[in-house]
Amino acid sequence: MNKIMLGYDFQMFCMQGFKIPLYAPLDGHYIVVGGSGSGKSTAVLYWLYKCRKQNVKLYIADFKASKEFSGITENFAEFEECYDLIKAYYEEFLATPEGGDDCIKVLLIDEIAGLLTHFSMTKQGKAKADEIRGIMSSVLMLGRSRRCFLWLSMQRYTASIFPSSSGSADNFHVWSENDHLSRIGGNQFSIFLYCNRNKEEVSKCKLKSS
Ligand SMILES: Nc1ncnc2c1ncn2[C@@H]1O[C@H](COP(=O)(O)OP(=O)(O)OP(=O)(O)O)[C@@H](O)[C@H]1O
Ligand SMILES: [Mg+2]
Repeated sequence: MNKIMLGYDFQMFCMQGFKIPLYAPLDGHYIVVGGSGSGKSTAVLYWLYKCRKQNVKLYIADFKASKEFSGITENFAEFEECYDLIKAYYEEFLATPEGGDDCIKVLLIDEIAGLLTHFSMTKQGKAKADEIRGIMSSVLMLGRSRRCFLWLSMQRYTASIFPSSSGSADNFHVWSENDHLSRIGGNQFSIFLYCNRNKEEVSKCKLKSS
């Protein structure tokens, strides 16, 4: 199975001073939650960098037009154009056979809650927001068998980003909640994760940053 190095074990670093890498399956849905400036986009960029040698077809919807993600993929959109990009990804998802094809397909939506709130301000936009909710739910439920995955970032988790009682959120494989950035590990840039050791995979991890 393909894996990504997500960062280093925070507890181990604090106790022993060793940087032990933590891995998660690339075949998974990811969500990063954290306040403004907590390091969400940086963590996602780090993970994208770590999986750059894997065969991943990437779609990036950068609602805030933060420019952090530009130049990584040609399947890229900002602000209201994110809707068309998400639809294009969904068409590709529907055309992908069971078992997947030659690559993993990832749809990254940065600041999903902001995107949905923005669209929901008008009647026409509300229909688009509902469509996006449906698409995300469908990818979360059925994507694994087609090797199509959703990566989301948002400031505060709310279940209202999915259709009500869909249970879609239960399908995330990596759930990271960013703390405030704390300076650890000297000046070297690193991502540290505080993770739930009872699980086999890195999940429900907390990100700490150096
Ligand atoms: N692991 C890290 N080590 C050092 N600096 C970091 C780390 N992660 C993030 N930063 C710095 O913290 C700042 C905020 O990070 P980032 O933009 O990723 O946060 P964000 O949660 O995406 O913020 P926003 O909600 O504004 O989009 C940036 O200047 C970034 O360079
Ligand atoms: Mg950001």
